[in-house]
Amino acid sequence: MTEAILLVGGKGTRLRPLTVHTPKPMVPAAGVPFLTHQLARARAAGVEHIVLATSYLAEVFEPYFGDGSALGLHLEYVTEREPLGTGGAIRNVASRLHSSPDDPVLIFNGDILTGLDIGALVSTHTTSGADVSLHLTRVEDPRAFGLVPTDPTGRVTAFLEKPQTPEEIVTDQINAGAYVFRRSVIDTIPAGRPVSVERETFPDLLSSGAHLQGMVDSTYWLDLGTPQAFVRGSADLVLGRAPSPAVPGRCGDRLVLPTASVATDAKLTGGTVVGEGATVGEGARIDGSALLPGCVIGAGAVITDSLIGAGATIGARTVVSGAVVGDGATVGADNELREGVRVWCGATLPDASLRFSSDQ
Ligand code: GTP
Repeated sequence: MTEAILLVGGKGTRLRPLTVHTPKPMVPAAGVPFLTHQLARARAAGVEHIVLATSYLAEVFEPYFGDGSALGLHLEYVTEREPLGTGGAIRNVASRLHSSPDDPVLIFNGDILTGLDIGALVSTHTTSGADVSLHLTRVEDPRAFGLVPTDPTGRVTAFLEKPQTPEEIVTDQINAGAYVFRRSVIDTIPAGRPVSVERETFPDLLSSGAHLQGMVDSTYWLDLGTPQAFVRGSADLVLGRAPSPAVPGRCGDRLVLPTASVATDAKLTGGTVVGEGATVGEGARIDGSALLPGCVIGAGAVITDSLIGAGATIGARTVVSGAVVGDGATVGADNELREGVRVWCGATLPDASLRFSSDQ
């Protein structure tokens, strides 16, 4: 049985302030910590043993997931003393693997939401005889990503980090953050120092003549690294556009967790999730948003494509669109928060203190 490593130790800087108190994989998406979806998908693909490579806020994973038996998994946790980067993290957990030198080992970034056929990636790896196989996805604007061109047989020909000029954009295929390594290749990564698998391990393997195989597909794929992507991913899970066996309820326009309280005339649409103990006031309209546990949404508030942190309060009639409100923040009544705003954890905005328009 193939075992897996999950990389969950990043600082998640792009997702702040959501990641100030919570590591990115533990931020709730569709009602459960995002990592739950990845673990459940791996389990559904037949993976039973998963090693979590932790670093930033490492202490919160084990109390929540324990030994993994609730998900039918055997989970182990390995914490880095200093962050070792993606490659260093993989090397650092090698001693926990049970696989033989030629066996395939799955490796997943902890912030990717995807419909990847995990079994197909493992078969691609074994039938091609590759040293490492990578899931690749196509994106419209590849400039923010590492490009991975392949030859007609799918063999990787180069790794090009964050191309800028049109000449450098030789493909729309990018590293999608899921790999299969031949077990013995993991042991060749240098131990005890930071290593980036994307910038060091993969290019080094390629130049030493190793066989790296790409598997391109057109399944759902989203990197949940930014607030807007995270909110989109949560809504897509609720809507059933992104597949996960771990959504705690039926997929549809909305997901209201059992202990939440929603006024009868409030309108929830577009894959909105209302977390445990959260309250939505009369006449509020919430579209495509994630309301984390214990937050309070005032009467008549209008919240679109936004994430409201745990225990945060949004005052009556306040408009929040494309924004993130950190855990425990208080946004008074009659405010207007628009695209890109990040309200820090615990911050307080008085009533009618922030507008984007001149109407009041
Ligand atoms: P940003 O700071 O916003 O870029 O996010 P990040 O820290 O998560 O970095 P990035 O998105 O590049 O990381 C890709 C994956 O590798 C994520 O699942 C991270 O949790 C994980 N990761 C990144 N660095 C480390 C590390 O030093 N140790 C471990 N164990 N995991 C890491």
